[in-house]
Amino acid sequence: MKRIAVLTSGGDAPGMNAAVRAVVRVGIHSGLEVFGVRRGYAGLIAGEIEPLSVRSVGGIMQLGGTFLGSARSEEFKTVAGRSKAIANLADRGIEALVIIGGNGSQAGAYALHQEGFPVVGIASTIDNDLPCTDVSIGVDTAVNVALEAIDRLRVTASSHQRAFLVEVMGRKQGYLALAAGLAGGAELIIIPEVPMEPEEIARGLREAYDRGKEHAIAVVAEGAQYNAEAIAQYFREHGERLGFELRVTTLGHVQRGGAPGAFDRLLATRFGATAVETLVRGETGVVVVIQEGNVKTVPLEQVVHGTKPLDLRLYELAQVLAK
Ligand code: F6P
Repeated sequence: MKRIAVLTSGGDAPGMNAAVRAVVRVGIHSGLEVFGVRRGYAGLIAGEIEPLSVRSVGGIMQLGGTFLGSARSEEFKTVAGRSKAIANLADRGIEALVIIGGNGSQAGAYALHQEGFPVVGIASTIDNDLPCTDVSIGVDTAVNVALEAIDRLRVTASSHQRAFLVEVMGRKQGYLALAAGLAGGAELIIIPEVPMEPEEIARGLREAYDRGKEHAIAVVAEGAQYNAEAIAQYFREHGERLGFELRVTTLGHVQRGGAPGAFDRLLATRFGATAVETLVRGETGVVVVIQEGNVKTVPLEQVVHGTKPLDLRLYELAQVLAK
């Protein structure tokens, strides 16, 4: 193998740049030519592919986002779109592709693999919902960003004896809310995995008030049965008495834009290096993941068809601690 390419796809995640840097530098160190694809699968279809040097990836490791750009491509889900992509790679003599992204991106990688193009995926999504990996690139930084916001909100909440509904991202899963809520000492954590009616949420906030708390923080996952705004609307319409005055803060993409912390830089660097080593030894059709501290590869098929249930013992612990 002489030429490989790397792309970042789907929602950007802090640490993606460190992964690209490792792919490029370990690739060149291993005697490969490395190309970068702009704008994920959309750029692959459009032929936005350029050679990268060790210098092209200088000064990017500490930056959030992805210097290659990212996209969500509907066209890549079609056979015709993928044929264009494969033709663009073949035109440039590129023999394998490293795909850095989450569930949608690894589904795309699996489709390419099934069509016979050699790929290696790298687990990257802030949501921590990718099967077969304990954690993905970006999770730690996103949790820390949410945590910092929660800490600040508690300060102002205490000054005014308010309750806050803080909505965090996480797609259909509650990992980010659970992790940030547990680390932030939230009074309530509202996640899709544990449906909670608004009356129950109101009761939880009221009980915190009655226990003499100066503030109450409810962390709401965006994928929960009721999002933060819907809960607040319900409280207004039903005149729910909380004791506290209520405010809503939706963190949204703020969580994605953070500068990667040490954990994500190290994880991404190890993942990027392992992806190249995997290709060099001729292994493809796999995703680089971390399990119990070990960076390893698992077949794409297992990742794409697997599930990643939330550890609800952490939820129970959060309930015990929120007194
Ligand atoms: O998958 C990462 C993520 O940030 C999710 O948490 C969120 O639901 C989604 O992407 C938002 O997507 P977009 O950036 O396309 O609005």
